[in-house]
Amino acid sequence: MCSNSDFDLAGLKSLPGLADVRYFPSLGSTNDMALDWAAAGAQDGSLVLADEQTSGRGRMGRKWYTAPAAALAFSLVLRPKGRECDSVGLFSGLGALALVDALQRLGVDAQIKWPNDVLIHGEKVAGILVEAVWQGEVVEGIILGVGVNVSPEALPPAAGLNFPATCVQNAVKQPVSRGDLLTILLDALLRRREQLASDGFRRDWEAALAFRGAPVQVWAGKDQPLFGLVRGLQADGSLVLETETGILETIHFGEVHLRPA
Ligand code: BTN
Repeated sequence: MCSNSDFDLAGLKSLPGLADVRYFPSLGSTNDMALDWAAAGAQDGSLVLADEQTSGRGRMGRKWYTAPAAALAFSLVLRPKGRECDSVGLFSGLGALALVDALQRLGVDAQIKWPNDVLIHGEKVAGILVEAVWQGEVVEGIILGVGVNVSPEALPPAAGLNFPATCVQNAVKQPVSRGDLLTILLDALLRRREQLASDGFRRDWEAALAFRGAPVQVWAGKDQPLFGLVRGLQADGSLVLETETGILETIHFGEVHLRPA
C-alpha cells in the first residue's frame, strides 16, 4: 500500500467500523476500484482512497474532476446487514448527512440538495455516488463514493459546470487539512450508519435539505420537469413535493435531478 503525508492511514484503520484501507496517489475512479475489490471479497468497511482521479465518475454518466492534493475522493465498500438491506435509497443521504455533520464541526453550515449533493451557500461542495451490487434480489454490497472539493484547486473549470461550485476552504477561510477532514467525515459516516433507517436519521436529513418550502423543478425520467415546493422526505429517502395543485408527489431516488425553480 502507498502512503501519503496528508492522510493518517494507520489512524483511519483504527476508526470503529473501518476494516481496511487502500490508498492510491492516482487512480481512474475509486468507485471502480471499490467495485473490483467488492467482487474479490472486500469486507464491510473497506476504504479506497485516492489523491487524484483521472476518470472520476458522477451521477447520470457525468465526469467528476479530482485534481491532486486538493480534494477528497474515496469509496467505501459496505455490506448491508439487517434493515440496511431494505434501505438502499438511504445510503446517499448517509454520505451527504455525514459531510454536513463534519462541516458543522468546522463551523460551516451546509445543506443537502436531494438526492446527493452537498451545498455551502447554494454552491456545490461535494457529490455522492452510490452504486449497489446485487445478487438476484439481494443487495450484497454498496459502494459509497464521496468527492469533496477541499481547496480552490479542486474546482473544475467553470465551463464544465452545470451548477455553481465551491470548496471547504472558501467557507472556512483558512487552509483545511484533508487528512483531518477525512477522519472527521468517516467518523461521522460510521456513526450515522448506526441510525440508518431510523426516524431520527430521516428527520436530520430532512432538516438539512436545501430549498425546503421553496419551489424547485425535478426531472425524473420524463421530458418535462415536475414543479413543486420541497416538503420533506419519506422514510425510504424519497422526496415529497407539493405540486401547484396542492397534491403531494413522491419522487423516488434514481436518475433524478433537482434545480431551484
Ligand atoms: C455527483 O455529484 O454526480 C457525484 C460525484 C461523486 C464523485 C465521487 S469521487 C469518489 C468516487 N469515485 C468516483 O469515480 N466518483 C465518486
